[in-house]
Amino acid sequence: MSFERTLVFLKPDALKRRLMGEIISRFEKRGFFVAGMKMICITEDFARRHYAAHRDRDFYEPLVRYMTGGPSLAMVLEGKNAVRVVRDMMGETFGVDSKPGTIRGDYALSNRYNLLHGSDSVQAAREEIQRFFRPDELVPYTQEDIQWNYDISGKGVV
Ligand code: RTP
Ligand code: MG
Repeated sequence: MSFERTLVFLKPDALKRRLMGEIISRFEKRGFFVAGMKMICITEDFARRHYAAHRDRDFYEPLVRYMTGGPSLAMVLEGKNAVRVVRDMMGETFGVDSKPGTIRGDYALSNRYNLLHGSDSVQAAREEIQRFFRPDELVPYTQEDIQWNYDISGKGVV
């Protein structure tokens, strides 16, 4: 049995605003398995590479300053449809557009300081997990870890 993995990191504003526990708690309660987690200070080089797709946008430089403005917390979450479900839980890019009940919709108003990043496709997740974590920094789940989050008693994971 294998689930999808996604890369999430809590951005510097989440840590400065002491929202780390609150946000992790939401993912935990939803049923995600935490396969890896670590504090990191994102370097300028790393931020530029991670957001390379936005290199020509006017918000690229402020975005790089934001990401390097303090420590972040990176994690790998594992579970059914992890990429899509995590993005749904995050809300829209701009806090102000995000629905209540989503993380950004409950804790953010800014267009830039939006608390967290989540991979936006399975392929991006694969690449980003490799960028942030060595294979030996990720732990496997057991059947016991997930048996009350899914029905695994029959065929497949329901
Ligand atoms: P992320 O990549 O961080 O998960 O966020 P996202 O997919 O929701 O948003 P994306 O379009 O990839 O933008 C990356 C980050 O750039 C900042 N941003 N500022 N118009 C602006 O000022 C603007 N637009 C985007 C946000 O911090 C956004 O998360
Ligand atoms: Mg993005």
